[in-house]
Amino acid sequence: MKQAQPSTIYLKDYRQPDYWITETGLRFELFEERAVVHSELQMHRHADSPADAELVLHGVELKLLSVKVDGQPWPQDKYSVDDKTLTLRDLPESFVLACVTEIEPHKNTSLEGLYKSRSMFCTQCEAEGFRKITYYIDRPDVMSVFTTRVEADKSQFPLLLSNGNAIERGELADGRHYATWLDPFKKPAYLFALVAADLEVVEDRFTTCSGRDVLLQIFVEAKDLDKCAHAMLSLKNSMRWDEETYGREYDLDIFMIVAVDDFNMGAMENKGLNIFNTSCVLAAQETTTDAAFQRVEGVVAHEYFHNWSGNRVTCRDWFQLSLKEGFTVYRDSEFSSDMNSRTVKRVEDVQHLRSIQFPEDAGPMAHPIRPASFIEISNFYTMTIYEKGNEVVRMIANLLGKELFRRGCDLYFERFDGQAVTTDDFVACMAEVSGRDFSQFQHWYEQAGTPRLAVAGQYDAEAQTYTLTVEQSCPATPGQAVKPNFHIPLAMALVGRRGLLPLELEGESHGVETVLDVTEKQQQFVFSGVSEKPVPSLLRDFSAPVNLSCAYSRDQLLFLIANDTDGFCRWDAMQQLAVAVISEQAEAWRAGESLVVDVRLVQAMRQLLQDESADRAMVALMLALPSLPYLVDLLDSPDIEALHHARATLRQHISGELQALLLDTYHSNMSDVEYQPSAEQIAQRSLKNACLAYLSLQSDFSAIERIQQQYQDADNMTDKLAALAAMVNSNSLHAETAKQAMLDDFYHAWKHEALVVNQWLQVQSACALPGGLERIKALMAHEAFDIKNPNKVRSVISIFCGQNAINFHDASGSGYEFLADQVIELNALNPQIASRMIVPLSKWRRLPAAQGDKMKLALERIMTSPNLSSDVFEMVSKALK
Ligand code: PHE
Ligand code: ZN
Repeated sequence: MKQAQPSTIYLKDYRQPDYWITETGLRFELFEERAVVHSELQMHRHADSPADAELVLHGVELKLLSVKVDGQPWPQDKYSVDDKTLTLRDLPESFVLACVTEIEPHKNTSLEGLYKSRSMFCTQCEAEGFRKITYYIDRPDVMSVFTTRVEADKSQFPLLLSNGNAIERGELADGRHYATWLDPFKKPAYLFALVAADLEVVEDRFTTCSGRDVLLQIFVEAKDLDKCAHAMLSLKNSMRWDEETYGREYDLDIFMIVAVDDFNMGAMENKGLNIFNTSCVLAAQETTTDAAFQRVEGVVAHEYFHNWSGNRVTCRDWFQLSLKEGFTVYRDSEFSSDMNSRTVKRVEDVQHLRSIQFPEDAGPMAHPIRPASFIEISNFYTMTIYEKGNEVVRMIANLLGKELFRRGCDLYFERFDGQAVTTDDFVACMAEVSGRDFSQFQHWYEQAGTPRLAVAGQYDAEAQTYTLTVEQSCPATPGQAVKPNFHIPLAMALVGRRGLLPLELEGESHGVETVLDVTEKQQQFVFSGVSEKPVPSLLRDFSAPVNLSCAYSRDQLLFLIANDTDGFCRWDAMQQLAVAVISEQAEAWRAGESLVVDVRLVQAMRQLLQDESADRAMVALMLALPSLPYLVDLLDSPDIEALHHARATLRQHISGELQALLLDTYHSNMSDVEYQPSAEQIAQRSLKNACLAYLSLQSDFSAIERIQQQYQDADNMTDKLAALAAMVNSNSLHAETAKQAMLDDFYHAWKHEALVVNQWLQVQSACALPGGLERIKALMAHEAFDIKNPNKVRSVISIFCGQNAINFHDASGSGYEFLADQVIELNALNPQIASRMIVPLSKWRRLPAAQGDKMKLALERIMTSPNLSSDVFEMVSKALK
């Protein structure tokens, strides 16, 4: 039987619901192989809806046991059920609807709704998971007060949690017990959560600015009790920061975090009961890298900040997702900047945006941060909604300045507290407090694609003027061929021999740094009184999410690397220089020529390494060449093999040229002080390990010994893993036996720590040496792999297909066939994970036909496989369109 094609949902079709739910009473009876869910919904008809309006409730994979209205069984001829809905007719104006349904959490591998992660019961309801628990109006504008009673076996599930405050507990027959929770804040169903488990707890307390004493609890397995301190500290820092920065205070007497192994995403902001992927909460020196420490801090903050930006003020519909996500990412990135190094955080965020969001915005799934339509909302938890959404909020904050932005946020939170609203409501608050006109700026919400800014500068020595000509455009994206001009804030400065030059525009002084409002297709800005020929520093601090091009000479790039005062621009100049050098090396390789490496790149790196005053983390970031996947996405019809070869040869060359200096830097950044995940120490380790990676490209025996030494001496996972990665990636003959020995040693030391084993899997999955796919298949056959666990799937399959470009794009097409097989298998188990894995194949049009055609065939095979989920259907059909 041919399945009905999933349908498209449009923003323009939004209507308020015909019925509201004011109170939700739930009772869960949890058993080994089933759960019985009793719901009691206090409902009434919308004042504007006709008396005969049907009530349509969502429900998926539910067994309906009974339906009552106001205590009476509802007659069979007044309701109907299909695989997605329960529809009731002839209802009174207000009533209590009571349903009993049965579900099978132990069989739920989608990790959406109520499911089992190992031995514990837990839930994930965003976006549309609540309908897999019971019949409900499962949309975010339906907000209700929830009372939840959970019943389960007491010895197996001593812990019974839900949102809000525990109001009652007691014993039941047969060794069972119950707990009842009341969440006084009305909320949409997507913020509902329940946990039944046997876990240990780490506790702390926080006193809010108005004196509320809040109990903080992190629930984890007993073996992980020693890995909660960092998350707890991050939580307290977040609570304080949100009070100080936004005047936002926590509103319940208890805040809980539960760590689960099987989770589709990073974490979830359920009211008062956040559920976290273990990878985003657990952290300890011995098991966790610096990057993961920082991720824990950021995700804890993100979920906590959602209490206001998401929960107290929520989304009217899922087209507004970026209202809570873009804003909350902005809030957490500012928090992390305040806690650590602002410039490093900014560069890392831009790197992430450019390497993942820009390609998304240039591909078949490109969508505005407020999409106009979707088939499956789960496919829209994207880098665009989150990270580009963050950039758009950041532009608003910068346009308004600190004080006005805060006033706009205050207005937004006060006016819409307890409501479900839109991105327009958010922007309107910003317009109201500032008196600014945001009508052109709104295009950022409506138009997909990364705008291009082409900038050219011209110096007139005689007139002492410098003219910047700026031209904007935006590539076509699905459904949007031509687009009105954006309002692009272009932060800039002019760099002279002795620093930034004063800026004078039309007789007005702008200090030494300014923001140009680019609003037209083409604009000219004429600076006067410019006493020397400057080099323009453009898009400072990455002031807008655009692709900027300016025909800098290599000498100008070197000048910026050495002299610009903006950290982002210095890093970016180095990136541009590296891209130019790698591209020209790749061209030469294709032509079978050998080309000497431009000494200026090596010279720039040498200067960085010698600069005692430089931020070490920035030096490490600037020493790293652009990744192969980044280059592949950046360049037109890329020759992946040539790029890989060029990049590898260049790294080898740098390693040789700078060997002595790298070794010096390596040694001088060793430290014997006690480990701290502090910005300063992290910077030091990142530079040391960047040197180690370069030094390991030398194939002499001492390089191998150095790696082994670091592996043995390391008292933290950052250094240990850097050594393991260096060893695994070494193609030195001396490494052959040492490599397997180190991998075995690592595995045996850590096989009981899933998160550490995942890092072991990741290092191997990313290894660019030949034979990648065979290694992946061996890893998938290893006891450490489990296709039902998303962290394992990400560690092996996603890393291989997304980061190991040279192996994934093997000329035989075996990588594509492999990925298609995995997508088809996962489609049946976990559609959300299956769908996200399709991204690498969706880029087929950008690659040379030899590869592109094979990728397309793989997509077509997925498309014709049976029982496609709406998630996979949407991704594949759009990729093939
Ligand atoms: N709302 C979560 C966050 O951004 C992400 C999430 C979405 C988690 C959907 C699970 C499912 O923090
Ligand atoms: Zn979020």
